[in-house]
Amino acid sequence: MDTIIILDYGSQYSQLIARKVRENHVYCELLPWDASADKVSAYHPKGFILSGSPYSVYDPGAPTLPDYILQSGLPVLGICYGMHLLTHALQGKVAPSGEREYGLAQFECAEDSVLFPSGSQQVWMSHGDRTEQPPEGFTVIGHSDNSPIAAIADAQRHYYGLQFHPEVHHTPGGKEILRRFAVDICGAKAEWTAESIIQQAVEKIRTQVGSSTVLSAVSGGVDSSVATALVQKAVGKQLTAVFVNHGLLRKDEPQQVEAALKGVLGINLVTVDAVDKFMGLLKGITNPEEKRRIIGATFIRVFEEHARQIGLPPFLVQGTIYPDVVESSAPDRSKAARIKTHHNVGGLPPDLGFKLVEPLRYLFKDEVRAVGEALGLPRQLVWRQPFPGPGLAVRCLGEITHERLERLRAADAIFTGELDHEGLLFSDQGGSAQAFAVLLPVRSVGVMGDQRTYDETIALRAVSTEDFMTADWMPLPHNLLARVSNRIVNEVAGVNRVVYDITSKPPSTIEWE
Ligand code: XMP
Repeated sequence: MDTIIILDYGSQYSQLIARKVRENHVYCELLPWDASADKVSAYHPKGFILSGSPYSVYDPGAPTLPDYILQSGLPVLGICYGMHLLTHALQGKVAPSGEREYGLAQFECAEDSVLFPSGSQQVWMSHGDRTEQPPEGFTVIGHSDNSPIAAIADAQRHYYGLQFHPEVHHTPGGKEILRRFAVDICGAKAEWTAESIIQQAVEKIRTQVGSSTVLSAVSGGVDSSVATALVQKAVGKQLTAVFVNHGLLRKDEPQQVEAALKGVLGINLVTVDAVDKFMGLLKGITNPEEKRRIIGATFIRVFEEHARQIGLPPFLVQGTIYPDVVESSAPDRSKAARIKTHHNVGGLPPDLGFKLVEPLRYLFKDEVRAVGEALGLPRQLVWRQPFPGPGLAVRCLGEITHERLERLRAADAIFTGELDHEGLLFSDQGGSAQAFAVLLPVRSVGVMGDQRTYDETIALRAVSTEDFMTADWMPLPHNLLARVSNRIVNEVAGVNRVVYDITSKPPSTIEWE
């Protein structure tokens, strides 16, 4: 498949470049800037994009432009630091800007060029250095108020440089600029579609697995469901999926998982009812870390027991997605990767010697969802919000009992149901990235009818976020909050107070435990 290689110089936006290129249906790979020439050439790339970077080209030890890039004769697009690298390597001049330019700018382009039409467009700038003099053979094809040289081109050699970031949301025309580079300039075919992804994945799984049996652990989450559905499409009856119900799922969720995977897709699904076991072990536990530890360890034990019962298949499906792979290989973002591992309490037995089948390894979340829809999984499952491995345990603060879980489930269903009704539950429709109820072990005095009550509190949380590393609380409509509060207090026994969480992350986290 035609491939564009993006070299990652450590910009916080590098993954966005890859996402935007893929949104144009062109396949691309994000590789560390110092990946070996052999590794890069194995992709037979059609062109290169050089990302931004926290470095200046003059910093000691700053990452460099590998020789194979210019030797390849292929088109190159340098973004910000990438533009400076190109300029520097081809004997132009890069210098610190008088002031760091950060934020929105108006980009002007006098004549039509292959990258953008003439006229003015909003762009996002974030740079310290800038190109002061383009290398020989280049012309300036656009400017902004603070950047007289905001875009350069050498149309003969197909080298392009942009001072601004076409990959970010604040550059609305950026996706089209990347399409023009990848498709019009590099000649890459836009053939990366859900159907082609499925076709490739199916072939690859069949080659890897042959006639062996395969095991999958499904949680009801998007990634494990789509990965399992892909393997089902590839090897059908060779697959057994195990769904451990730990009793910490939301209202009706176990039934929804069964209906989608068994009912719609015909997957051979074994549901393990481990509710009593988990509840027994969690009795009296209130410490969040202790809850997580017990749930993680018990999950592994229960899963292993059932894997053995069905004869320990040699292959195990895992829903690893591309951002996990990229995070763990990018040196400058290793911190972000560590935050995630801390959360991986639903991890699977490391010592059973499974060979991993990872059909989503090259996909971004939006692509996983598109594949899920194309495979016929229900929208409700495909667009599900992320749900933590320890489930409602980390939203039921204090002791976990059947009664308190039911209380939390009922309140959560009211809140998410009302959000859905208003079109605010799915982030693709401008809704929240994550919204849920939390049950607090805080009792307060209330009055219902003529009766004094002394009951627990529900906190509502709804956030918007791109990456779950930082998040903003959502300013929900007051009448919606009023309706939700009213319904919870009236319909959920044991709750007499509802509060709305208005803290962002940081300093808070999204979950309460
Ligand atoms: P926090 O609460 O750290 O959460 O802001 C960030 C994102 O991670 C999810 N999360 C988890 N996911 N296992 C998971 O698979 C976990 O233990 C876990 N804890 C938090 C959380 O829902 C949010 O999307």
